Amino acid sequence: MSAALDPADFRDAMARFVSGVTVVTTRDSNGNAVGFTASAFSSLSLNPPLLLVCLQKDADCHAAFMEAEQFGVSILAQGQSAIAVRFATKAIDKWDGTRSVPGRATGIPLIDGAAARLECRTHSRADGGDHTILIGEVLTADANGNEPLLHFNRSFGRFVEDDGA
Ligand SMILES: Cc1cc2nc3c(=O)[nH]c(=O)nc-3n(C[C@H](O)[C@H](O)[C@H](O)COP(=O)(O)O)c2cc1C
Repeated sequence: MSAALDPADFRDAMARFVSGVTVVTTRDSNGNAVGFTASAFSSLSLNPPLLLVCLQKDADCHAAFMEAEQFGVSILAQGQSAIAVRFATKAIDKWDGTRSVPGRATGIPLIDGAAARLECRTHSRADGGDHTILIGEVLTADANGNEPLLHFNRSFGRFVEDDGA
């Protein structure tokens, strides 16, 4: 990192960026479901349909995602902040008490009641400093009418339309 940049300033500036919240899931080589909460998620390309998510290299589930040929992304809905916290907590059974549904293309568990669910084939992985950028080719995308969960300034919240005034 540049000597001139205070990491706290970088974090504080990025905390001003509002994002949605996702849970990214796959199966490890033993067939166990793993997953993590991610806000570093973006649409990447329409043709071909690609998305990306950034995973810290020291995550316990990193090795599983480095091998996985498929993964799922659940865009969390309002009222699912406890699930976001759960999938951001290390060394617990993240699936205990979490309702999931198998993806229709991959069978990978996705979060029940999420605002949208996507399944991907792993297209490529890129180095991103202390993160790996996972790029997925989108196989299925299902949205329901649920309002999304938002994350801003280290808190969870909901969308309120700007009145333009
Ligand atoms: C709102 C929120 C957003 C997060 N976004 C990311 C992210 O985009 N990428 C990431 O690697 N970790 C992110 N994290 C942290 C991981 O979810 C957390 O470190 C997780 O426990 C890592 O997986 P592991 O339990 O397998 O180590 C986020 C956490 C929260 C609460």
